Amino acid sequence: MTNILENLFRINCKNKNINLSSGNPAWNGPEFLFKSSADMMNKMASEHDSIGGDISRYNSSSGEEQFKKEMRDFFIETLNCSSKNRSQKNVVFANGVTHLWSCFLELIKDKESDKFRGKTPVILFPSMTYGIHTESATRAGFEVCGIPISSETGFHLQASDLEHAICEIEKDKTKKVVCIKIDDPHNPSGAVLNKNDIEKITAVCRKHKIRIFNDLAYCGLEYDDNKVFPFATLGDARAITFTAVSLSKTAGAPGLRAGAGFGETNDVNFISKKISNDMCTSSIIAQQCCADYFSPRNADLREKYLTKIRAWYSTRSKMFQASILGKDSINWTPFELDYLETVIETLEYYYADDVKNALKHGTDHIKFRFKISLEW
Ligand SMILES: Cc1ncc(COP(=O)(O)O)c(C=O)c1O
Repeated sequence: MTNILENLFRINCKNKNINLSSGNPAWNGPEFLFKSSADMMNKMASEHDSIGGDISRYNSSSGEEQFKKEMRDFFIETLNCSSKNRSQKNVVFANGVTHLWSCFLELIKDKESDKFRGKTPVILFPSMTYGIHTESATRAGFEVCGIPISSETGFHLQASDLEHAICEIEKDKTKKVVCIKIDDPHNPSGAVLNKNDIEKITAVCRKHKIRIFNDLAYCGLEYDDNKVFPFATLGDARAITFTAVSLSKTAGAPGLRAGAGFGETNDVNFISKKISNDMCTSSIIAQQCCADYFSPRNADLREKYLTKIRAWYSTRSKMFQASILGKDSINWTPFELDYLETVIETLEYYYADDVKNALKHGTDHIKFRFKISLEW
């Protein structure tokens, strides 16, 4: 079956960036996060009596130790990432996943250049993908290549397709594949890779000496019973993987620009230094919020918030799929239905009068047809 997602993939390959905007949060962050930021602001202001208090200072590092410890606990205890010899030295704070991705690209250019000396370094993305990150790779001097993922395999990247893509690219002796960026859950399909997937993908990456940037911006927002299986949970993937999370999606707070990365000490040291040298350190407030949100000690509060947000996301995803796949009916769970009206308000582009009318009938099987046309 050829569907619009697959057609979009082809266009994405050609243009290298199509942003379907399926992942913009349209809700507030959780109450306890507001409290964290307010408490930190008050603390900074009250502990110092100079004008503006401590708020007036620049941050001196890419992560306060106690916050890094909490993030380490999240990566190891909650996400089950490899724990051997891992401490807060393996954690770095940054201004979101996008920032970490840019730093990682610099790391590859600087530290791994012997792998591609004299050749054009190529970065792979399962495609479709989030366009801004292909753009930053291009701007950083990499060539970008998309690997098709399709509905037939549940939008799971196939290790055999990866192997094939690498061989095809490297037939051209002037090119070397250096890295793959894997978003899990995947934007825009929402697909989550399983253990079998990541084992096979890791084996191909190790064989071809390819680094993995595992973007977990949407972890916690998995649909149904899926749970993200980070590459860093595998001993085999440990040395080649860098893992990144942020508050943007899972805590509905992209404006805070708060995220954290987890990886090999050498990688973390390079990225920390880069962040410090560029004076791009994330604020203490953002670090505090990130640590508080992800800390295992706040697992219950986080889960309560995520349960609500997952319903938002799945409501929106069904609307989105209906609009681009041309479905004219959707089955809602009662929970999703609770959010439908608000979701529609946030999707004004796709707004249709018949949706409004259907809402009045309060049925959980709503038929409607979107009056939109996609243009490109
Ligand atoms: C897959 C993916 N990763 C990361 C981001 C942005 O993350 P951040 O705000 O932490 O830079 C997005 C934004 O849509 C995304 O789709």
